Amino acid sequence: MSIDYKQLIANKINGTPLDKAEIVALITETADDSFGDYAFPCFRLAKEMRMSPVAIAQKLADEFVPDEHIVRAQAVNGYLNFFVNRVDFAANVLDEVLAAGQNYGNDTLGNGKTICIDYSSVNICKSFHIGHLSTTAIGSSLYKIYRALGYNVVGINHLGDYGTQFGKMIVAFKLWGNRADAEQKGVAELQRLYVKFHQEEPDHPELTQQAREWFVKIEQGDSEATELFELFKRITLTEVKRIYERLDVHFDSWNGESFFNDKMAAPLAMLRDKGLIKESQGAQVVDLSDYGMPPCLLVKSDGSSLYATRDIAAAIWRKAEYNFDKCLYVVAYQQNLHFKQFFKVLELAGLDWAKDLVHVAYGMVSLEDGAMATRKGNVVLLKDVLDKAVAKSLEIITAKNPDLPNREQVAEQVGVGAVLFSALENSKIKDIVFSYDRVLNFDGETAPYLQYTYARCNSLVGKAGARGKRCDISALDNAETLRLAKLLGAFPQAVKDAADKYEPSIISGLLIDIAQAFNKFYIEHRVICDDVQVQNARLKIVDATATVLKKGLALLGIQCPDKM
Ligand code: ARG
Repeated sequence: MSIDYKQLIANKINGTPLDKAEIVALITETADDSFGDYAFPCFRLAKEMRMSPVAIAQKLADEFVPDEHIVRAQAVNGYLNFFVNRVDFAANVLDEVLAAGQNYGNDTLGNGKTICIDYSSVNICKSFHIGHLSTTAIGSSLYKIYRALGYNVVGINHLGDYGTQFGKMIVAFKLWGNRADAEQKGVAELQRLYVKFHQEEPDHPELTQQAREWFVKIEQGDSEATELFELFKRITLTEVKRIYERLDVHFDSWNGESFFNDKMAAPLAMLRDKGLIKESQGAQVVDLSDYGMPPCLLVKSDGSSLYATRDIAAAIWRKAEYNFDKCLYVVAYQQNLHFKQFFKVLELAGLDWAKDLVHVAYGMVSLEDGAMATRKGNVVLLKDVLDKAVAKSLEIITAKNPDLPNREQVAEQVGVGAVLFSALENSKIKDIVFSYDRVLNFDGETAPYLQYTYARCNSLVGKAGARGKRCDISALDNAETLRLAKLLGAFPQAVKDAADKYEPSIISGLLIDIAQAFNKFYIEHRVICDDVQVQNARLKIVDATATVLKKGLALLGIQCPDKM
């Protein structure tokens, strides 16, 4: 906020042993407006001032001189509570929001800094299922948040495109598949072949050996093996990219595991030189027993590399390529140990930037009906979830507003937004149980509720825009407006906090509070009314609310239809 209220208040508190910075640090915003807007606790002063906190608060209250910004001070139980000039406070916030428009909340604090975000990171030949929702939604939102704060952001899809399973895929494809089916049916067909391989393998042990041979051929760059592998990759990525487009998700790099095939020798040599690698039953490992972790396996006895080897090579490569200030890995908490292990290995190797690697862990998503078995190829596809959410949105919208033009497009934005929001509404570490009815409840704490509130604001402003028109700002002098203005004013800090804590839910939570506060305001105060200048003042509130809702949703990767 352009006016720094805490500083203003600190300047009005005199005759204590604290300096102004210490006073500012003690001042808090009150949770309940009826006790004032800011509070200064006097407990810490008691000893030095040889008075009770209650007496100190009373003394400070008696000495308080009101001004145009802070109109009243009141001592309550050892706190000194301050009341702001409501009109002045609200007008300030509104002017700031409206002047910034969709740049509100942006900052330059990240200028000159680079953040890598490894997210979504899908596996080739595997379907894009509901389990990828959180990494995709959280990673993409962090991408947009960091950008708004001025960082240079590199979105990385660390493809799972390496491993013995691709040898199995080739065997299965050659025995039971064909190009036409694969092209036409896509990943579902690749999954079918993979499942079939595992069904047949117990009775046909020769398949295992063949798969191994094909895998070696992939590694050696054999032309047939490479060509088939590229086919699988293209089929998978075509499908996945279609979903990314719907979700408005972007990547700057698609360098996945196989990209590091020829980039592991140097890191391994470096670890060996530093004496970190030990032989263990023919394998090469880094012993982490001093840190209470199992050894980090880097080279198997047959000479092949592992997931961790590739991640170590990838981290070193990214540091050299992007010189990141931080590299985030948005990956489920099931992989906690993996990240702890390889971060530790890099730290032990003396790479000081290892401290800048962050595992942004999140919880599991399951569906209400319990469907989530992955092993048997029996998965809930993200595409199906999106389609179902969109279809249900269309039903709801049609019932609410049968004449709405471009209903299909609105339903897409609402359905997709609802699904994304479900992964962004709670602290990311929580497991979530997905329910269509809950995420699509237009009156719940949901994306459709925010979108609907936005559309309502938008149509009010569209009907009678107030920008630049004379208004009666005394119309801002009420509790509902002050509450809303406080929340709107808190938005820029929420964006920064979301980045600091890797927690988009800080933004989604504030947006819900804003929408609820707006709807309260809207019930209490008629926006379209007889007094044009009062109407204009209220329309400013509506306009600013719309601006922040739209911007906040954009940072979550969710679009706002203008009409709903
Ligand atoms: N493909 C992996 C999986 O689905 C996630 C990769 C995450 N990124 C990484 N650098 N390990 O489990």
